[in-house]
Amino acid sequence: MHRTHLFNEGTSDAKPMKFGILTPALPLILAGLLTSAVLLLVACGGEQGKPASPPTIAPVGVVPADVQRPGDPRKGYQLLVNTPYVTCGIPYSAYRQTAEPPAPRLLLPGREGRNAELPYWLTARTTDAGVELVTSNCLSCHAGFFNGELIVGLGNESIDWTIDLVLAAEGMGMYIDNDEDAVEWRKWADRTASISPYTMTDTIGVNPANNLTLALIAHRDPKTLAWSEKFLLQPPPEKPLPVSVPPWWRMKKKHAMFYSTEGRGDHARIMMTATLLCTDTIAEARKIDAYAPHIRAFIATLEPPEYPFVIDRKLSNTGREVFEKNCSGCHGTYGVDWTYPNLVISLDEIGTDPELARRAVEDADRFIHWYEQSFYGENTRIEPAPGYIAPPLDGIWATAPYLHNGSVPTIDLLLDSTRRPAYWTRSFDSRDYNKQELGWRYTALKYGKAGAASSVEKKQIYDSSLIGYSNQGHTFGDALTDNERAAVLEYLKSL
Ligand code: HEC
Ligand code: HEC
Repeated sequence: MHRTHLFNEGTSDAKPMKFGILTPALPLILAGLLTSAVLLLVACGGEQGKPASPPTIAPVGVVPADVQRPGDPRKGYQLLVNTPYVTCGIPYSAYRQTAEPPAPRLLLPGREGRNAELPYWLTARTTDAGVELVTSNCLSCHAGFFNGELIVGLGNESIDWTIDLVLAAEGMGMYIDNDEDAVEWRKWADRTASISPYTMTDTIGVNPANNLTLALIAHRDPKTLAWSEKFLLQPPPEKPLPVSVPPWWRMKKKHAMFYSTEGRGDHARIMMTATLLCTDTIAEARKIDAYAPHIRAFIATLEPPEYPFVIDRKLSNTGREVFEKNCSGCHGTYGVDWTYPNLVISLDEIGTDPELARRAVEDADRFIHWYEQSFYGENTRIEPAPGYIAPPLDGIWATAPYLHNGSVPTIDLLLDSTRRPAYWTRSFDSRDYNKQELGWRYTALKYGKAGAASSVEKKQIYDSSLIGYSNQGHTFGDALTDNERAAVLEYLKSL
């Protein structure tokens, strides 16, 4: 199982809802709410309670391995797509009034009961009081389309997080018609409202998961996980930094989770912090944690899809030589005897936008202390390094746009920093793939957000002059000749 490529349909990737406000948003709304992205991050000082020793900042260089709890990948997939690990959501009766039945390409195999008729990013749950809910799951951010096919584990680089989640959540209230449903909807809408100021990105496609997780943490008692309407910690800055969702199949090779390798220790437990929107007690967290190793095992055995178009094998072989000379030292070697060095490269050396890593290591003390005192800190650690991991490049052709902030539209441009557009828009149709440059079809613009003709256009512009959005750095491909670069691109198609 592992690679779940499914339906190859002729329709566009646009969403299935008919209710206007929810249309662009539902996946995220629902889904979004959580995040595994965990603690990277952010902002300044506020100490909670007693002074604690400063958190550990990991060195750059090699990331050591941690022991992982074993699990069964087959069970993991079943749990991933059938178990409501996010426990709050929208009453099914309201959902049904707003949603059309999903197109076949939005359905996943192996789903049971009500789940079999829900789109892949939603999971059904019946509460103790008998109310049926639809809740979000990991695939809202961790599944995406390539060439019209749904691929589990591909980061979703098309969600629109520029919207105000409160409007969407409150809009759902119109469809609530009994008291039991109202209680459930209210809880979900309130939680959504509490995080919405922390999730609004400047551009469609980038993800605010890291900031969102910190906002959730700031609402919870570390010892009990109890939710407090008031912040218990100083929250993160409202504006999230843009993050590109990494594909899950990297976890087979990676020793730590996240771009600055802050997720150390037991990966299964760290991943399940993505349920923090609704996990209100330690008992609930323990229940999820008991089966989380299976989900981790599924993720750690996932393979990237195969490049679906023709590869020029001769050119690709030349490309492998160029790659092994110029790139393998950081990104490893590929094939049956693959190697992967698990290297964090310092901000100075990599030169890419420093904000995400900077916020992960500076002034994140209060979040890291929260984490240490919490259930999650029992067997995991948040230890950011001041740099970025050089990721495994398996299936890299499928994961545009590039760099941790999604600032570079194609691999061709990633390998020549002099040609990267400062401002650009891209196609969100997964069949609009550029086989020469490896990335979604894009248009370079002469102006950034300030020059946009409408608010709709504004949200679609990637403006690399904004904080956190820079497309600088990673100049390692600049010295390649055009022929060498073309050969490396051909080789990357084979990974
Ligand atoms: C709201 C979007 C969102 C949801 C929902 C979400 N994630 Fe993530 N996830 C992210 C983002 C963004 C990152 C990258 C964060 C970073 O590296 O700074 C990430 C990173 C990860 C990673 C590490 C990947 C790597 O290469 O380091 C794993 C594993 C993961 N998520 C698992 C999960 C699981 C399991 C769930 C569901 C329980 C989940 N995520 C739900 C957005 C999400
Ligand atoms: C000194 C180490 C180093 C070398 C050499 C290097 N890279 Fe990288 N590479 C990195 C790091 C670190 C990142 C992540 C940077 C970030 O996200 O900000 C990265 C990112 C990438 C990405 C984008 C990954 C993604 O998911 O967005 C690609 C593609 C890539 N490198 C290809 C190459 C190729 C091809 C070469 C050789 C021409 C090369 N790299 C040489 C360290 C290196």
